[in-house]
Amino acid sequence: MNLTKNNEDFTSTLPQFPESYWLHSTPSIPAFPKLTEDLSIDVVIVGAGITGITTAYLMAKKGLKVAVLDAGRIMEGTTGSTTAKITAQHDLTYSEFISHFGEEKTRLYYEANDEALQFVKNTVTELGIDCQFTEEDAYVYTNDDSYIKKIQDEYKAYEKLGIPGAYADAAPLPYETRAAVIMKNQAQFNPVPFLIRLVQEFIGMGGQIFEQTTVVGAALEKPLLVKTKHGPRITCHNLVSASHYPFMDFKGLYFSRLHTERSYVLAARTEKPYPGGMYLSAEDPKRSLRSVLLNGEPAVIIGGEGHKTGQGLCTFQYYEHLQKFGEETFGLRDILYRWSAQDIYTLDKMPYIGQQLSGVPNLLLATGYRKWGMTNSIVAAILNTKLVAGEKSPYEEVFNPQRFHSDPDIKTFMTQNANVAKQLIGGKLEQTRKDAGELAADEGSVVQVNGKRAGAYRDSSGKLHIVDTTCTHMGCEVEWNEAERTWDCPCHGSRYSFQGDVIEGPAKKALAKVDPDSI
Ligand code: FES
Repeated sequence: MNLTKNNEDFTSTLPQFPESYWLHSTPSIPAFPKLTEDLSIDVVIVGAGITGITTAYLMAKKGLKVAVLDAGRIMEGTTGSTTAKITAQHDLTYSEFISHFGEEKTRLYYEANDEALQFVKNTVTELGIDCQFTEEDAYVYTNDDSYIKKIQDEYKAYEKLGIPGAYADAAPLPYETRAAVIMKNQAQFNPVPFLIRLVQEFIGMGGQIFEQTTVVGAALEKPLLVKTKHGPRITCHNLVSASHYPFMDFKGLYFSRLHTERSYVLAARTEKPYPGGMYLSAEDPKRSLRSVLLNGEPAVIIGGEGHKTGQGLCTFQYYEHLQKFGEETFGLRDILYRWSAQDIYTLDKMPYIGQQLSGVPNLLLATGYRKWGMTNSIVAAILNTKLVAGEKSPYEEVFNPQRFHSDPDIKTFMTQNANVAKQLIGGKLEQTRKDAGELAADEGSVVQVNGKRAGAYRDSSGKLHIVDTTCTHMGCEVEWNEAERTWDCPCHGSRYSFQGDVIEGPAKKALAKVDPDSI
């Protein structure tokens, strides 16, 4: 079956617009005002996703006065778009990390993530949070013979590090698998009700949250001076960048040390029953599986199909690939939700958590979780809270953002930045693909307006929206993402709505609008 966007089968099988089940199923997400006046406080946290909210909660428990600022609504970034597996099993990570970082640092990485899992588990119990939290075993499996050795090596790494796990000749899935490595007693949940409860606790301890408040920079003085886009300023003693992409990415050249990827998720009811557990394929294309209750009914979340932001195929195809996989393996009854997520990768795959710049101990960073944000965000919250409180942590050196290893950092750095240069130059030379006047309803494309590259989208009512496609971060040319109706930058992953407003940074400024009457 050819399921393209304009095919009749398409709208009956895939939801027309993306929508995260986590956000959609929790209508009572509290709203907060915009910051309207100057403030003086102990700590400012930029970003109100799982990292920012958990950090704020832990710091408030230490008696600190904390304000959280978010450019949009709380939890609406990657936190609302996760598959929400809470696990220290991060693909085939441990054998690779032992070869790059050694056994001791790799063990600390595991222990930090296991501590994060236990934190969520204990918090759910202590606060009595109803968030579909269940304990599950996590599997990385393969059905490709050439990956069996890698699965065996990963299990050997578990044994070396003392990770409770097992090796199996197959995973209990309704299709053929050849080997699996299992991490016992991991978990899954719905992060939104969990975080709403932490927000309530934080506010109850005197914490403050401001939405629609974009931080554009900070003067690194004593005290720190945080500047917002619409004027108000905040003086504070500590500043935590929990905005997914660091909001001051030029300080420390983080834009050259990070790259972003997008991946896709379906939530569907299936013909075959789900066997329990959480699964990830070792080989590409990645397939991630877990169960969920969708409006009280059992369903399956299928994720995968990662690619660099702004550098993919026609983005509807990724959903179609997941749909085909689901039909062939579980038999899909209906797909109730589809959504996508953005993840950030560091040069060596270890997150950057801690002091962002040398000589500035009160500017802290948390980013680069790859796809494992549900535990690494909690690792960041615990570690950065300890740093602000002047306490020691065994994890400080492991996650230190200022580290640089010759292997694998130099090779990844060169490849990554060569790719950015290629995208920057390629985008400028590219030929126009379509005339704006030819666009059908709900269609977008790169077009030419008065001899200049521009981006046009005709909405369902027939109105044309045209933007300048030059990204406001560092000048690369954005690309149309037809499945999400967004303009995505191939260089560092900024994303804009079809009207040009910033959805995800590092960009802070909207794309310039072009008057359709000027064509
Ligand atoms: Fe850096 Fe667009 S995100 S140039």
